[in-house]
Amino acid sequence: MNEIKIGLIGFGTIGAGVVKLLDKNGSLLEEKLGTRLFLKKIADLDISTDRGVEVEPGVLTTNVDEVLCDPEIAIVIELIGGYEPARSFVLKAIANGKHIVTANKALLAVHGEEIYAAAEKKGVEVLFEAAVGGGIPVLSSIRGNLAGNNFSTVLGILNGTCNYILTRMTQEGADFAEVLKNAQQLGYAEADPTFDVEGIDTAHKLCLLLSLCFGTRVDLKEVSTEGISSIAAVDINFARDFGYKIKLLAIGKRDGERIEARVHPTMIPVNYPLADVNGVFNGIRLSGDFVGPVMFYGRGAGMEPTASAVIGDVADIARNLVAGISRRSAPLGFGDDKVKNLTI
Ligand code: HSE
Repeated sequence: MNEIKIGLIGFGTIGAGVVKLLDKNGSLLEEKLGTRLFLKKIADLDISTDRGVEVEPGVLTTNVDEVLCDPEIAIVIELIGGYEPARSFVLKAIANGKHIVTANKALLAVHGEEIYAAAEKKGVEVLFEAAVGGGIPVLSSIRGNLAGNNFSTVLGILNGTCNYILTRMTQEGADFAEVLKNAQQLGYAEADPTFDVEGIDTAHKLCLLLSLCFGTRVDLKEVSTEGISSIAAVDINFARDFGYKIKLLAIGKRDGERIEARVHPTMIPVNYPLADVNGVFNGIRLSGDFVGPVMFYGRGAGMEPTASAVIGDVADIARNLVAGISRRSAPLGFGDDKVKNLTI
């Protein structure tokens, strides 16, 4: 196989990152994979804004079907975000036999069951490493090298925007609204930043982590969720006086058949490793029965780290296509035969 053709839907910050990465490291990837990744089409409603990357003439289109229905395209990257129309487009791509790579945590946290059922039926893969922790390879580690473990706890700073805001409020006494604006300019925040600052984005990511770690589906509505919009300088200063930092923490625990899932601002002792996760960085601490505690740390949002995770998934599927393996089994918590009924 000389070439694998890819289509991209959603040409925003991360989409531009994907183009940039393929442009810079395409030859390196070809050496590693033994095949070329060729980005054939990019669909977006807005194809006139300059994204700061070079795109060959004819690649951009406003007609999403040029990606979803092109028989030559084997892998569709979904970077639209949100529930709809991302859900309908992904289902259409699957129905047309495309493998899917997505960074869309909202989509999978809420419609993961439907999407995986469709993918199982068509025998295609759905990978979503970029949906949790930006560039940090946490999901593939849970599915891969940590597969031998029974997990008991997941703790995570999972939203780069909130962590960036809290860090700048802590270190510089910066103003909440001002720093949120910066986070949007830097391409960290969601299109609707309410999802970031009210903890919903973190709750989406926690649902995905809990599915993979505990093999259960977690209904977003059952995750007790509080964001950082009411955190004021006075809270941060009090916490500091007592030797703590305030972080927006996702907490997941399993005790037998019961699980606990919550997201809220948390006082973390300054000498605890998660307290040192600053700025746009994310930190995830998992506890497995054999491996013990494991920490993941890296940039949790932004163009380049997220594009790195997206292309990692594309490369993973491409390797299988080259080897003639079309699809592996669904991850724990997603395949119909792999869901435990745990009580929250
Ligand atoms: N808005 C998200 C964040 C993007 O700030 O973490 C990465 O998922």
